[in-house]
Amino acid sequence: MSLAESWDRYAVGSKPRRTANAKGDTTWLNWTQYADHGPDETVLGPVAGRRVLELGSGSGSNLAHLVALGATGVGVDVAPTRETVARERWGDLPGLEFRTAEATAFLNETDETFDVALSIFGAVWFVDPDTLLPLIRSRMVPGGILAFSHLPPGSRGPKPAKAGLRHDRTPDEWRRSLTEHGFSDVSVSLIDPPEGRAAGTMLVRAMAP
Ligand SMILES: C[S@@+](CC[C@H](N)C(=O)[O-])C[C@H]1O[C@@H](n2cnc3c(N)ncnc32)[C@H](O)[C@@H]1O
Repeated sequence: MSLAESWDRYAVGSKPRRTANAKGDTTWLNWTQYADHGPDETVLGPVAGRRVLELGSGSGSNLAHLVALGATGVGVDVAPTRETVARERWGDLPGLEFRTAEATAFLNETDETFDVALSIFGAVWFVDPDTLLPLIRSRMVPGGILAFSHLPPGSRGPKPAKAGLRHDRTPDEWRRSLTEHGFSDVSVSLIDPPEGRAAGTMLVRAMAP
């Protein structure tokens, strides 16, 4: 089974996002796996007028929120089903595009540069950082912001058959790896889970050189 097929299979089990969150907002950004939990898009700094890339954009709802705030964005996901679902839900939003592509292939081929790159339980978790980080860096403007989230190391979570291993990193390993690849101002935070839930979320932010 190809990478695209295994992630397409995984996509079948994903629930569509609600049409409004607890505050009544119709778009929002969620870094964690829990509803109405964790920090919002301000982690990325101001996004209005910025060009944003999301790697492993899934159903597109997080990127759609940034575009609703005035960014323009490209969401890249290896699973074709994800592009279909994202377009159905968000296709009317101007300045928002979705592409079916593997993250490293997209970064190798594009000639665009981005002010912001994000990945929420997405490709940054599933591709070897020594392969992906130089590619991300090469497509970011100086001072651009890279932020991504995933489960803390050792947690149980998505690992579709044959889709490749997760690249779990401890906070120190991410700091070292990002710094080695030229990123600065690296911050890693561990977001506690809501009461009664076991797994927290690791949120990483860094600045491109
Ligand atoms: C756990 S899901 C998270 C989806 C979305 N970011 C969210 O928060 O709902 C992981 C997503 O990353 C995509 N993905 C995994 N590896 C990828 C890669 N190498 N290139 C592009 N997309 C990838 C999968 O198809 C899937 O949609």
